[in-house]
Amino acid sequence: MRIGILGSGLIGGKLGTLFARAGHEVVFSYARSERKLKRLAREAAMNASAGTPADAARGADALLLAVHWSRVDDVLKQAGSVAGKVIVTCSLPMSLDDTGLAIARTDSGAEALARKVPRAGVVAAFGTVPSEVLYRVFANRHRAARPSLIYYGDHAGAKKVAARLIRDLGFDPVDAGPLRIGRYAEPFTLLIAQLAYEGHRGPELAYRLEWPRRKR
Ligand SMILES: NC(=O)c1ccc[n+]([C@@H]2O[C@H](COP(=O)([O-])OP(=O)(O)OC[C@H]3O[C@@H](n4cnc5c(N)ncnc54)[C@H](OP(=O)(O)O)[C@@H]3O)[C@@H](O)[C@H]2O)c1
Repeated sequence: MRIGILGSGLIGGKLGTLFARAGHEVVFSYARSERKLKRLAREAAMNASAGTPADAARGADALLLAVHWSRVDDVLKQAGSVAGKVIVTCSLPMSLDDTGLAIARTDSGAEALARKVPRAGVVAAFGTVPSEVLYRVFANRHRAARPSLIYYGDHAGAKKVAARLIRDLGFDPVDAGPLRIGRYAEPFTLLIAQLAYEGHRGPELAYRLEWPRRKR
C-alpha cells in the first residue's frame, strides 16, 4: 500500500518507519523541518520518501493522521482533498495544554474528525499504545502471542485496511465497533498513558485482550 504520514513526530515517525519496513510505500510529511522528514525517510527504508501533506495524500491508499489535536485542521487543509481515502487516526483530542480531553463523554475526537472529512473513511487505531512500544512489538511479530490493538470506525472498507496495517506491525487487531466507541477508547488511552509515563515499569507497554475458554 501507499501510506501518507500526516504528522511525523513521536508516533507518526515510528509508525511510518515500521510501515515502510513492513513493505509499504511511505511518504513522511508535516514536521517543522524538512531535514527531519528526509532523515526519517532515509532511515526507514528504500520505499520511503519525504514530502508535503499534499504529496502524502496524492495517490495514498491510506493516510495516517498523527498530529496534536490543535494541528488537525491545518494539516488537513495542507493535504487537500481526502475524499474517498482511508484516514487512520491516532490523534487524541487533547486540550492545548495537554491536561485532558477537549472532547469527551457525548462526543469523541474520532467522531469530530469524521465530521471534518465526511467523504473519507475514518478509522481510529494505534492511539491506544505508547509509541515507545512499537519497535518491540514489530520485532516480536513472529511470536504466537501478540498484543491486542483496538480499532473502530463506521466504514467497513477502511476498517479492513486498518486491520491489515495493525497486523503488519505485529498486533492482533480487535474490532471495537463504530466510531462512537471513541467516547470510551479515548479516555482508556489516558489510562494507558498514565501507566506508561507515571507507572514504575516504563512506557514500553502494550495490552492483550483475552476471552478465556472454559475447560471441557
Ligand atoms: N506519542 C505517543 O506515544 C502517542 C500515543 C498515542 C496517541 N498519540 C497521539 O498522536 C498524535 C501525535 O502525537 P506525537 O506524540 O507524535 O506528537 P509530536 O511528536 O508532537 O508530533 C506531531 C508532529 O506534528 C508536527 N508539527 C507540529 N506543529 C507543526 C507545524 N506548525 N507545522 C508543521 N508540523 C508541525 C511536529 O513537528 P516536529 O517533528 O518538528 O516537532 C511533529 O512531526 C497526538 O494527537 C497524540 O495525542 C501519541
